[in-house]
Amino acid sequence: AVELSLRPRYLAEYIGQGQVKENLKIYIEAAKMRNEALDHVLLYGPPGLGKTTLANIIANELGVNLRTTSGPAIERPGDLAALLTNLQEGDVLFIDEIHRLHRTVEEVMYPAMEDFALDIMIGKGPSARSVRLDLPPFTLIGATTRAGLLSAPLRDRFGVVSRLEFYSIDELSFIVSRNADLLGIEIQGEAAEEVALRARGTPRIANRLLKRVRDFAQVRGDGIITPDIAAEALRMLQVDPRGLDSIDHKMIHSMITSFRGGPVGLDTIAATIGEESQTIEDVYEPYLLQIGFLQRTPRGRIVTPAAYHHLGIPLPPEQS
Ligand code: ADE
Repeated sequence: AVELSLRPRYLAEYIGQGQVKENLKIYIEAAKMRNEALDHVLLYGPPGLGKTTLANIIANELGVNLRTTSGPAIERPGDLAALLTNLQEGDVLFIDEIHRLHRTVEEVMYPAMEDFALDIMIGKGPSARSVRLDLPPFTLIGATTRAGLLSAPLRDRFGVVSRLEFYSIDELSFIVSRNADLLGIEIQGEAAEEVALRARGTPRIANRLLKRVRDFAQVRGDGIITPDIAAEALRMLQVDPRGLDSIDHKMIHSMITSFRGGPVGLDTIAATIGEESQTIEDVYEPYLLQIGFLQRTPRGRIVTPAAYHHLGIPLPPEQS
């Protein structure tokens, strides 16, 4: 519930993602002027950047209901039919992890998105026939970590495709200060920036760190989050000054010690450190790429000199 109340409810309160926000604002206003459902929207990008929040905001701004579900939760075409036939005109259906829709469900989704029609099979065998049911015009908002995970036919049916970017330190500092206010936490500006620096460009992580830092300030201090308190709390959380955690460290260390810094394939890295390839690719790697600690090449991932420097490891002779 706290998590929910922290979420901004309108575009004007939503910090960052300037381009995405500006575009959505226009599309929403246009749809409202025409009294039509907003075109289907695909939001993609690393976890924690605000895809669910944006879906909620879009429904709010449109003044319509939001139904939320996820790809794997829709097990059969009938489940999707139940969701769609319960929508009112203009409502938003939000499907998180839309890349995990079952194939059979996905096929029902195509005519639903394109023609607001539901093709359902009646009966089995030679007497089976398909009937077409009209649906109220609706907006599908899909969320996924990478657009490339979607099949082309599904991706092509979204009229608006928006990529969420990592947040800047300033944006994250602002979010941390705003959310501290909402939670009744006193945090000094430099301390908010300290949290922001270690939040991997990700509001969800910033908010989590804020709560842990608050605990520390309450128990070890007088409740006010000063830069010193923040730095000490963050050190105890094993989040380093660039926001890297023990898994990032393990990954980069093993790439350096076992594979001389690469190139090394994703699956090899995953097997070496005992993590899922998909988790590394969706959760860990994007930020490491963003801050220039890793590079992707056709032959695999490479640890950059900046990462060696950050970890205090000397570059191998052939690279220095
Ligand atoms: N809380 C989490 N993400 C936010 C954002 N993008 N803007 C404002 N508050 C937030």
